Amino acid sequence: MNDMTEFQAPDITVRKNQGLVLAADFTLPQPLDRYTDEDHQVWSQLYARQMEVLQGRACNEFMEGLTRLPIEPHRVPVFDELNQALGAATGWQIVAVHGLIPDDVFFEHLANRRFPVTWWLREANQIDYLQEPDVFHDLFGHVPLLANPIFADYIQAYGVAGLAAKSQNALHMLARLYWYTVEFGLIATPDGTRIYGAGIMSSRTESIYSLESDSPNRIAFDMQRILQTRYRIDTFQKTYFVIDSFETLFAATQDLERLSQYYNAIRDLTPIGAGDIVSTDTVIHAGNREGWSASDDV
Ligand SMILES: [Fe+2]
Repeated sequence: MNDMTEFQAPDITVRKNQGLVLAADFTLPQPLDRYTDEDHQVWSQLYARQMEVLQGRACNEFMEGLTRLPIEPHRVPVFDELNQALGAATGWQIVAVHGLIPDDVFFEHLANRRFPVTWWLREANQIDYLQEPDVFHDLFGHVPLLANPIFADYIQAYGVAGLAAKSQNALHMLARLYWYTVEFGLIATPDGTRIYGAGIMSSRTESIYSLESDSPNRIAFDMQRILQTRYRIDTFQKTYFVIDSFETLFAATQDLERLSQYYNAIRDLTPIGAGDIVSTDTVIHAGNREGWSASDDV
């Protein structure tokens, strides 16, 4: 997640980063000596729990990346070690950051195949829910797919598109693509629908809900539709978009001219609500909206 609107560093971010100095590009060396035994214990617990729930739910490319990279079950990964394997796989590197960083800095990193990863970990009393990204979300959730060559190209293309969108005053639209793909994306596979979004990957409850609940909509990927669709950051998603391949996602994001046309086409239209279905949708599953309140339609 990277939404800098009215950004204020949460207390935990401030506390964890006390005394740590940032470089101009908002990175810092991973402060390995700050990890406590409790941190490694929390990592172990989260890792074990997700590995159990993701069997048969995560896409194969994610599981392959997890196996290929030194992302260990019992300790917070060492970024330098991980970077050797990741660099060899796709030329990507991860860089440590305090937490959320300004949009233009974020895009600049992605466009240069550097993925910013929050270095610190949630505490034992926040194991189930933490609003801001930590190292478990950023690393376990996002990094395995960076070992996949096509997904790796997609994230770089997103960074390039982000830099372009900023100058076109279109960031609020492009941010929806990140949300509905990188964070909460599903993919159709010969074995059934699978998860590839990191926001789902790092959440035990949403891993099950996104695939198995009758409540949310599941709709086929449509770039213009996504760019026009609001999202909710405070509840499970009302709608998940399902891609047919990473190639489709990459091709649609690499085409900057087409993206500009979409921005211009929808800029003055009312955004589509997070839980709405529209006539042009290819609906895979129409949610029964169970458990939704009226405010869920905004
Ligand atoms: Fe994220």
